[in-house]
Amino acid sequence: MTLSVPHGGKLVDQIVREPDQRDLLLRAAGQMMKITVDSANLNDIHCIGIGAFSPIKGFMKEEDYISVVNELRLASGLIWSIPITLAITEEQSQQIPIGDSVALQSKEGNIVAILKVEDKYTPDKQLEALNVYKTTETAHPGVKRIMDRPDIYIGGEIQVLEEPTGAPFEPFFFTPKDTRERFQEKNWKTVVGFQTRNPVHRAHEYIQKTALESVDGLFLNPLVGETKADDIPADIRMESYQVLLKNYYPTERSMLGIFPAAMRYAGPREAIYHAMIRKNYGCTHFIVGRDHAGVGNYYGTYEAQEIFSQFTKEELGIELFFFEHSFYCYKCKGMASNKTCPHTKEDRVILSGTKVRKMLAEGIMPPPEFSRREVVEVLIKGLKQRQTI
Ligand code: ADX
Repeated sequence: MTLSVPHGGKLVDQIVREPDQRDLLLRAAGQMMKITVDSANLNDIHCIGIGAFSPIKGFMKEEDYISVVNELRLASGLIWSIPITLAITEEQSQQIPIGDSVALQSKEGNIVAILKVEDKYTPDKQLEALNVYKTTETAHPGVKRIMDRPDIYIGGEIQVLEEPTGAPFEPFFFTPKDTRERFQEKNWKTVVGFQTRNPVHRAHEYIQKTALESVDGLFLNPLVGETKADDIPADIRMESYQVLLKNYYPTERSMLGIFPAAMRYAGPREAIYHAMIRKNYGCTHFIVGRDHAGVGNYYGTYEAQEIFSQFTKEELGIELFFFEHSFYCYKCKGMASNKTCPHTKEDRVILSGTKVRKMLAEGIMPPPEFSRREVVEVLIKGLKQRQTI
């Protein structure tokens, strides 16, 4: 086996690196209409730029958008489950003819990319919410974002002028090209990717290490873009991952690298998108556990696993490791899952995310069977500092 083939055959690279060309485009951008993008779109721009979203080269045109919303595929037929879209107001739309280029700028006013406008359209937001998130309730953070945005989408390829650095996590920022090179240097032929937006607790560690028994390397790939306000902030998590890796993981078989995207909380649909992206990073395997990328009670516990059954192995191009709900069991005296443990609820250490976050915020240590001491210490310290800022 060799590293996986990028989604669509080859890695996209939309970053303009050549200094003269960059200067020229930056000067041209000065004359263009400016669109200020939000933090999730800024994350999209970075992911498109570095090829994490290969084969996607820009914001989706209507044809791709409709196909993704309805068919879980791009218009080309390739699997893709989350719309990558840019919203503008009716007023802005009237000032942007198709064929023009617009400058995309950050909230701070830095020009980050140029978009060649190839399409403008009015999305059916209700349908998008229902198909992508399985609900139209704005209590769902993904749905809220759709509904809060302006009503017109514009699509077209982008050229990224501000090369992403992964700041403030530069040492852990890798493009898919970089990760592939690293995996090769390490002589990993099979690599399992792990998505997370949480600290790595014992259950996460258990499924990662169980997977690692079958492959050469583990790519711990935490999402560090926008998450909901009550998730643990990325900087605190990053510190906790480093402490955990240092104390409990084999250095030569594990690698930490950030995934600079925003969380969508789209459950099953997001699991597919997460898997395709990790394929781009070179992973041959991807872990989907219980309620992957879930929020509230919008998705069934194993729906994010079941959704993959409609695709063939060949078109997915990455192998999936599915895991049952895992926990520490006092009778088993170790980590186990519904699949391997015959005991009852009372024997198992199961804490909800909400409960754990509340404990940590109050400085209460979750039991060591739930989370490693070293990890908990970092989390409590980080959250405490945050509260006093
Ligand atoms: S997610 O939103 O990024 O999916 P989280 O960081 O909690 O949230 O989960 C990362 C991965 O671990 C997901 O694949 C999820 O399904 C899996 N997972 C989390 N907790 C458990 C658990 N107790 N048992 C099995 N899998 C789990």
